[in-house]
Amino acid sequence: MRALVLAGGSGTRLRPITHTSAKQLVPVANKPLLFYGLEAIRDAGIIDIGIIVGETEPEIRAAVGDGSALGIEVTYLRQDAPRGLAHAVLIARDFLGDEPFVMYLGDNLIVGGISELVAEFAGGGFDAQILLTKVDQPEQFGVAELDVDGKVVRLEEKPKHPRSDLALVGVYMFGPHVHDAVRAIEPSARGELEITHAIQWLIDQRYDVRSHLVTGYWKDTGRLDDMLDTNRKVLESVEPSIAASASVDAASRLVGRVVVEDGAQIVNSTVRGPAIIGRNTRVVDTYVGPFTSIYYDCVIEGTELEHSIVLERCRISGISRIEDSLIGRDVEVTPSQALPNAHRLLLGDHSKVSVATP
Ligand code: G1P
Repeated sequence: MRALVLAGGSGTRLRPITHTSAKQLVPVANKPLLFYGLEAIRDAGIIDIGIIVGETEPEIRAAVGDGSALGIEVTYLRQDAPRGLAHAVLIARDFLGDEPFVMYLGDNLIVGGISELVAEFAGGGFDAQILLTKVDQPEQFGVAELDVDGKVVRLEEKPKHPRSDLALVGVYMFGPHVHDAVRAIEPSARGELEITHAIQWLIDQRYDVRSHLVTGYWKDTGRLDDMLDTNRKVLESVEPSIAASASVDAASRLVGRVVVEDGAQIVNSTVRGPAIIGRNTRVVDTYVGPFTSIYYDCVIEGTELEHSIVLERCRISGISRIEDSLIGRDVEVTPSQALPNAHRLLLGDHSKVSVATP
């Protein structure tokens, strides 16, 4: 089998982070989100992986390279514009050949991996296998309607009036007939070739489309809340560790699942896990609360920080409390000594600031 991983898309719902960086590379528990998918595919025994890239191709290439560090062989496939998931299959025709394949959306995370699902599909001889999960807001997803026997009868992409609460998870398995399907369908109202429509075409042509209910944790990390929730979920299962080259002074306390990476320094601070402190990051006179990931080369001083993701090389000092936040690369957050006593902001386009009132 082969795999097709989608890492294009503009990530509009995660602006401004995605003005300068691919959403698939936002670190979750200090590892780029995309790597969780690539590792799950590798662990299912698939080595040949095509990655669909768009404008953020240079960054994705810089992070993943030829895949050898992850034990995979990567082929990059450029999509000229976000023309839909089925369009990605269309342009990957030569790479995929007639082999069965897994299609994995690079901003999705399934805890527990996909090994069993891939084995089931590989041994089943079906034309397609889709994964479904119950969600609260089905209108934001592809939605499946099943008959009394649990067979998929209809799929709709982001319906205004969903016929069920079963959303399509962003991991699909296909045999070669999907190539006929993606050629047969027309662009949707949003101007994209929808994979949902291609699967509906397979159903209409009476191909064997199986569905599988996912009961474990799954997230499409399109929005800030989803990203923080995914970070929380992954941190819940990290094993506590302190790298040999890290230092934690006698005045500091680490409580629960805390990972301190190479060269990090914790000085006169409390870190209450689950939390991860990145490589060469300094945490001084600070409280780091649960569900916080701080990436590498940051300095956090005299601050309280909880349930947040901080990217590389940030400097945060003297802030009484930060929660529920995603802070991009090279950001500085500091108190102002100058009068008048005011917030002074230099924010990128589409930034969101929610200031605590006294
Ligand atoms: C895509 C699919 C949708 C699916 C979702 C899962 O939506 O079109 O059917 O439910 O991924 O993540 P998108 O995130 O591109 O809006």
